[in-house]
Amino acid sequence: FMLKEIMEEPEALRRAILPRIKDGKVVFEGLQLDIRQYHSIKIIACGSSSHVGMVGKYNLEKLTRIPTEVVLASEFRYCDPIIDDKTLVIVISQSGETLDTMAALREAKALGARSLSIVNVVGSSIARESDDVLYTWAGPEIAVATTKAFVTQLAVIDLLAVWLAAQLGRLSADEETRLTAAIAALPAQVEQILSSRERIQYYASQYFNHDSVFFIGRNLDYALGMEGSLKLKEISYIHSEAYASGELKHGTISLIEPGTLVVALGTYSPLFDKAMSNVIEVKARGASVLALTTEQNREEMEKRVDGILTIPDTELMLLPLLGVVPLQLFAYYVALQRGCDIDKPRNL
Ligand code: M6R
Repeated sequence: FMLKEIMEEPEALRRAILPRIKDGKVVFEGLQLDIRQYHSIKIIACGSSSHVGMVGKYNLEKLTRIPTEVVLASEFRYCDPIIDDKTLVIVISQSGETLDTMAALREAKALGARSLSIVNVVGSSIARESDDVLYTWAGPEIAVATTKAFVTQLAVIDLLAVWLAAQLGRLSADEETRLTAAIAALPAQVEQILSSRERIQYYASQYFNHDSVFFIGRNLDYALGMEGSLKLKEISYIHSEAYASGELKHGTISLIEPGTLVVALGTYSPLFDKAMSNVIEVKARGASVLALTTEQNREEMEKRVDGILTIPDTELMLLPLLGVVPLQLFAYYVALQRGCDIDKPRNL
């Protein structure tokens, strides 16, 4: 099911995106939200959905300049959250039934927040209890590891960031047209990545027997690494951690030794040089490096690493949506090589 669901991503994305773009603008039918009434945004979710929240935080803050915080639902309940009626709470959940997320939503509402949920399962508890809901329309997800729901959650939060920024007058009509065109192009770009999956399978066959993997990246690539790492550990049982690359020198680098696999994420071009210097740093300690970058930076990256995967070029804010697809496939093929029960990982 996991591979089937990854292969369904282009169609799921079309359902999530295309009805919401009209004449170069984002349209959310029935959504009455006036963002000018809110001074902060809190995103509440668990697991992979919280990684969508991390990407959302970068993109919402960049486009709207509204302070945005991501809080794990299981922590939110116990942290005496600062919430009032000027807070917009965005709840993200594939199932719409995750208990911690549900409880956090109830608490946020009790404190006066306005709630908007991004949910896949139509009519689920979280969808019903939220003030507004944006469905992802990914279709049923059977595999425990989320894939197609994840990319559609990203698409919806990216559309939301554009919609809110336009409402605030922070995007010119040309910018909005450019961004919506890039969002509309995503399904075909995901198809392009899926068609080159043999290369990803090849790297999985090279690296499947590693005991320890680190995903490193900055900014949007850090959020992407969090998801790549979770996907890998969840289904292959390989110990894997994600780090913000700048944190390596504050302790983690002592774990890098000859043979450690580092998945270096260098899709975010404004920080590409920084990504390269981290690659050089871990290579000097003997790590094997598998890099992920964009087509425009392929040549530069290729000189320094042991393996390279690329994604098509796109707007910066959309990079994690394309970047996660090769990481999902990598996790899948590694788990397959290791003979794991991919759709039903142990203990989950
Ligand atoms: O249904 P939800 O999005 O609320 O589930 C949250 C997490 O349990 C979920 O994203 C989990 O981390 C994934 N299955 C991991 O692939």
